[in-house]
Amino acid sequence: MNYDERLQHVSVMGAAGKMGSGILLLTAVEMADRSLMPENKGKTFVLNAIDLSDEGLAGLMDYLRVQVQKVAEKKTVWLRQMYADRADLIENYDIINQYINDVMRIVRPTTAMETTYRSNLVFEAVSENKDLKVKLLRQIDANNPGKPWYFTNTSSVPIHIVENEAGLDGRVLGFHFYNPPAVQKLVELIVTPKTLAETKAFALDYAKALGKVVVPSNDFAGFIGNGHFMRDALHGINEALELAKTRPLTEAIYMVNKVSQDFLVRPMGIFQLIDYVGVDVVQFIMKVMNPHLTGEDLHSDVLDQMMALGVKGGQLSSGAQKDGFLKYDKGAPIAVYDMEKKSYVNIADFMTTCDAALGKLPEPYSPWKAAVKIKDKDAHFGPFFGSLKTMDTLGAKLALRYGKRSDAIGRKLVADKVANNEQDVNTVMLTGFFHAYGPINGYFNE
Ligand code: 3HC
Repeated sequence: MNYDERLQHVSVMGAAGKMGSGILLLTAVEMADRSLMPENKGKTFVLNAIDLSDEGLAGLMDYLRVQVQKVAEKKTVWLRQMYADRADLIENYDIINQYINDVMRIVRPTTAMETTYRSNLVFEAVSENKDLKVKLLRQIDANNPGKPWYFTNTSSVPIHIVENEAGLDGRVLGFHFYNPPAVQKLVELIVTPKTLAETKAFALDYAKALGKVVVPSNDFAGFIGNGHFMRDALHGINEALELAKTRPLTEAIYMVNKVSQDFLVRPMGIFQLIDYVGVDVVQFIMKVMNPHLTGEDLHSDVLDQMMALGVKGGQLSSGAQKDGFLKYDKGAPIAVYDMEKKSYVNIADFMTTCDAALGKLPEPYSPWKAAVKIKDKDAHFGPFFGSLKTMDTLGAKLALRYGKRSDAIGRKLVADKVANNEQDVNTVMLTGFFHAYGPINGYFNE
């Protein structure tokens, strides 16, 4: 089966979820593009978008239509060539609409997982529950005579465990996207000793077609990205608890969030990122990773308390951010959750005092959106963090500790042989988390 034949019948399980919807979008666009190639004219391409939630699937189709329009607008010249034989498509508007139709007619939203029984390739993006994943893949494999390939988007479960327990014998690999998949350039690729060479070769071709940067991760729970993120998040939570010995936890959360965003020049503060991914997802990933670790306890009572209170973050099917540690207005944090009072406290009530306690940002300051575009990162961040190290403020001290911790986490991932080298750790953070600089950088050394 060649590349196009493999892509003629594909399923995405968990398609209405945050990760699933992105995987579905990228795959639908790639399949539509292949279907427009002269050699594929007249062939049928089918992409099953499978999810338990009817409401979620309706939201998915809305998301898809909006995003495909954006994709089409960026490649009208190529589309004009592909539709050269269509005399009825004159204006760009006609071409864009035709492309949206061509993508949408490939996608079949459904709650019926039996549709996977005819697929050549199955993307698995259901919730982070090993037993559920194994059960579903085992069931599909027992009913699909075509020996399909499985690309699991698991964020933490070792692939060889899924492979062995579901009896997939080389036909599964970890193909781990980052949130949101349409934006983050990274795919972590995880193979097992049994993974078929042709499955891996297809995965590399497919990732290239999607314009993704592939970083291989060794098959350890959490892989590289979540290996860093979970420890980084725990550091942030523990720093907030430390600060909360002398001030309310709500203020401490605000301050650590600000330090991890503004002082460290990241796209989101750590509490915003936990909310973005979902408090529940972060707690699940830590739970899955923890039994595989020695000498380390990846666990936080604070996450457990938030879950017990039902405050989980995550996104609505419209893509809007749900409230978690922070409350949001048009995507921007406006309040912090008080776990004792079980209500939100407005940031405006304490922002001035907390900002004064943190102190000024180092100079020359470029916020993340500008900094991420800077070509010579060392020339900018070297002096910036050099200046941070000379400052005797609370903000600078917290940022310095945070930067050092992030660097140490990165180095440990190499020492533990999760990542093959430091460059891979840095690439994961640059392309999966949209950081402006890699964590292993020397900027924070004394
Ligand atoms: N789908 C498609 N496009 C999206 C999108 C989505 N869900 N979310 C954002 N975008 C697009 C926007 O439309 C916009 O496109 P444009 O430039 O063409 O207008 C672009 O992304 C930038 O968005 P915004 O201007 O709204 O906002 P920002 O510039 O702040 O960027 C962000 C948003 C890309 C989410 C950025 O804040 C970011 O990268 N944050 C960090 C996210 C992160 O760390 N992700 C990894 C989490 S860990 C993980 O996923 C692993 C898992 O296993 C848990």
